[in-house]
Order: sequence, then C-alpha cells, then structure tokens
Amino acid sequence: MTSNADPTVEPKKPALIPTKICCIGAGYVGGPTMAMIAKQCPEIPVMVVDLNQARIDRWNSDNLPVYEPGLQEVVEAARGRNLFFSSDVESAIRQSNMIFISVNTPTKTTGVGAGRAANLEFVEKCARTIAQCSEGHKIVVEKSTLPVRTAEAVKRILRSSSSGASFDVLSNPEFLAEGTAVNDLLNPDRVLIGGESSAAIDTLVRVYQRWIPRDKILTTNLWSSELSKLTANAFLAQRVSSINAISALCEVTGADVDEVAKAIGTDSRIGPKFLKASVGFGGSCFQKDILNLVYLCEHFGLSEVAAYWEQVVRMNDYQKKRFSTRIVRTMFHTVSDKQISVLGFAFKKDTNDTRESAAIYICRDLLEEGARLVIYDPRVSKDQIQSDLLKSFQDAKGEISNRHKQLVENNVTTVSDAYQASDGAHALVVLTEWDEFTKLDMQRVYLQMHRPAFVFDGRNVLNAKALSEIGFEVHGIGRSYRHSN
Ligand code: UDX
Ligand code: UDX
Repeated sequence: MTSNADPTVEPKKPALIPTKICCIGAGYVGGPTMAMIAKQCPEIPVMVVDLNQARIDRWNSDNLPVYEPGLQEVVEAARGRNLFFSSDVESAIRQSNMIFISVNTPTKTTGVGAGRAANLEFVEKCARTIAQCSEGHKIVVEKSTLPVRTAEAVKRILRSSSSGASFDVLSNPEFLAEGTAVNDLLNPDRVLIGGESSAAIDTLVRVYQRWIPRDKILTTNLWSSELSKLTANAFLAQRVSSINAISALCEVTGADVDEVAKAIGTDSRIGPKFLKASVGFGGSCFQKDILNLVYLCEHFGLSEVAAYWEQVVRMNDYQKKRFSTRIVRTMFHTVSDKQISVLGFAFKKDTNDTRESAAIYICRDLLEEGARLVIYDPRVSKDQIQSDLLKSFQDAKGEISNRHKQLVENNVTTVSDAYQASDGAHALVVLTEWDEFTKLDMQRVYLQMHRPAFVFDGRNVLNAKALSEIGFEVHGIGRSYRHSN
C-alpha cells in the first residue's frame, strides 16, 4: 500500500464520509457497484443516473436490466431506502459531494485511433455536465476504464466550471467480472484507489472500509491506478490466448489441453485460474482494453510493446475462426442448408451480456456458409441475438446488405430450450458453458438428431467419452479428433 499523494500540493482537507453519492451510468458496472455501496452504507443516499430512461425504468422494476446472481436481493435491500435510480442527471450531481463516472468507453469506430483508441466522448460530456452544475467541493471518481492520463483531461474540464466549484479527481477502477459481480463486490481481491489528494482518497477509503478490510484497499497515484486496470485485463486475456494457442497444438499432436492446463496450473507460480481453453474470450472489456493499451503504446512510440499485446487479440480472432472452420471442414466441407443447433450465446455463463461474445462471430461465419441456426440461450433474448447477428454483418460504412438481412431473417431461429434446438439438427455447437448444458439427457438429444450426430464443444464442458459411447462424433477444443466408429 503506497500513496504518492503529496499533502503539500494542496491544503489538507479532513476526510469525510460522503453525505451523498451519485453515479452517472447505470450499466453493468455502475448499477451493481452502487447497489452494493448503498446496501453496505445505509446512511449514504446513492443516486444512480442514466440518460437511458428505459434502463432506469428497469432498475426501478423487478426486471433488472442486468442479470447477475444475487443482484436482485442486493438491489431490493436498498432501493427506495438509500438507493435511487433516475434520469435526472443534473439534479443528482447538484445534490452529491461524490460523483462516480461509470459511462461506457467503447473502442472508437471512426476518426483518429479508430478500431483501437477508447472513445472518451461520454466521459468528457459527464465532466462538462459536472462542471456546469456543481457548487462547493466535489470528489469526482473515474469508475470507467480509461486510458492513462485521462484524469488530466477530466481535471482540466472541471477547472472550467464557472460557478467556482472545486474538485478532486480519483481513479477507482472496477475489477468485478460479470456473472460473479455480487461476490466480487462483496469480497474483492482488492479495491484500488488512485489520486493526488490524500483527503479525497481517505473519503473513498472510508466508504469501502465499511465492508472491506483496510489491507485490501490499495492506494496509488492516479496514473498507476488508471494503468493497472488496463494491465490486469491485458494479463487475464493473455492467459486465455496463451492456453488457446496451446489448444491448437494439442489438436494436432494428441495432447489434451485440459490435461496440460491442469499440469501447468499446479505450479504455484502459474496457478490454476484463467487457463480454460475456449472458443475465444469475449465480453465488453478484454478486447477493448488491450486495443486501448496498444494504442497508448503506439502513441508513446513503443511499437514493440504494442505489437506484443496486439498479438493477444489476434490469437483470439484466430481461435474463433479456427473453430468455425473446423465445424465446416468436419461436416464434409459444407454446412449449407444444414441445421446447426447453437447452445449458448452469452460471452460466458451466468450473464445475459453478449458484447463481443465469440458466439456472434461463430454464428456469423456459419450463416455465411448457408447454415440454418437454431439458437438457445437461457438468458439472452431473441431480439438481442437477432440484433447482434445483424450488426455482425455491418460493413465499414455501417451498412448491411439485403442478402445478409435475409440470412439473419430466414436462417436464424431462437428457441426456449436445448431439446427444441437439437430437434432435427445435424450438429450441436456449445458456445457458452451454462451449467444446464452439462445436465442434458444426451440420449434424447441423440435420438432427435441426424447421423452422423456431430457435437462441437467450444467450452469443453460436455463429457466427450460418454457422448462418444452414445454415438455422437465429438470435437472439443484442444483435443485430438474423437470418433465413435
Ligand atoms: C463499464 C465501464 O464504465 C467501462 O469503461 C468498462 O470498460 C466496462 O464497464 P458498462 O457498465 O459495462 O461499462 O457499460 P454499459 O453497461 O454500457 O453502461 C453505461 C451506461 O452509461 C449506459 O446505461 C448508458 O446509457 C449510460 N450513459 C452513457 C449515460 O448515462 N450518459 C452518457 O453520456 C453515456
Ligand atoms: C473481465 C475481468 O475478469 C474483470 O476483472 C474486469 O473488471 C472486466 O473484465 P468479464 O469480462 O466479466 O471480466 O469476464 P471474465 O470472467 O474475465 O471472462 C472474459 C472472457 O474470457 C469470457 O468470454 C470467458 O469465457 C473467457 N475465459 C475466461 C476463457 O475463455 N477461459 C478462462 O479460463 C477464463
């Protein structure tokens, strides 16, 4: 725990517990994080605001916009007591003395840095709104993942406030993973707070200290905190790409990637986590944050460092392409007019989030090959699936050809259970590791399918041996070809 905060830089202000907190951005991060703070600190009013009224309405209903195990209970414990969701951004800013910025920071799609740099438009707008409607002293907390030195820009914008308000800026990146958000918020490995004012840092420390031991709250300078978030995600993604790279070698050599992962993971220096070979990583963060890191390295003239990290994303693209190609090759080099049942569309289990899900890219490739897809995911809606697949066909100008529109309309069906999906299928493709897929009556599934009954397990969650005994032809990730006859 080190704090580089220099108390001589500004007059020392006493650390306070904030009297009111506001969070701009009621998304996957802002919503659950604020719900946990509100639950743990009943005396602090927490207002979560978002420009998207429909999203706010759902936070105020029983149908929360984010599916997370245990989240409903946390929200219900505090909502209406000291947790409020609203679209009145300005009023919430006025009333609060601590303001979190948790808006999305997607990869830029146009202009300088397109395809790599983070789009900071929303963060900048938030800073401008805060500057406009603030009075007195406020602590502004960067919760969104941001490029290093964004706080510098945020501070400059805040300084332009005409009302004479003063500000401290902190960086407090969120490390929660989707699907386990509630537990990650309740028992984090660490909380990271970066800043320049020790009083402001202490104010936020006191909030987290209500339920998190002090030795798990790390304080650093602003830039270390901003960079640590990008670095943590880059390291995690790198592990997945590393094991996926080895999975390709396993498939041609007869080694089994799960056995290799276990063998190396028992080395305490390597550790067992994040070594599950898969069809490719997805989610809103990994790719975006690595590309952001790559852009930063290039900006600072570190081209070798940029190329090193970019390879993590390239390997992930290769893994997804390799999987869809393998399906087509194995099925006698054509899937045209064949029914492929896709189990799972979310980027991982226990979430309804599909951002950057490997499933989108695999389905797109199979549609291009003329397959008829019957898709089942326990949490992802039909509209979401259709919209993701349509978007996957957008060209550089954002346009979608009529042929692609028709492909999605005619060749994609979404169903409400796995048996319905597999009825009449030529192949079963597992793309998300939902627990319920491991409990299916595979004998029943087999009887409903065409022969040979192919299974492509993109998550290695099914029992390949048992399936082969039933008669399936099973192909997993990082396992050599398995055959029933
Ligand atoms: C978060 C972080 O903020 C992002 O930087 C990180 O990399 C991933 O996690 P997330 O919560 O997943 O993003 O984003 P999202 O679910 O899209 O939520 C952002 C919310 O901010 C949306 O509901 C959007 O409507 C809202 N928003 C966006 C505003 O209220 N105002 C804006 O100006 C822009
Ligand atoms: C990640 C980070 O874990 C979290 O700390 C950060 O705050 C946000 O980004 P998230 O994207 O929610 O969280 O999910 P994560 O569990 O990290 O999984 C990311 C992707 O990697 C998923 O598609 C997952 O299926 C894949 N993955 C993960 C693997 O393929 N193999 C693994 O061993 C682990």
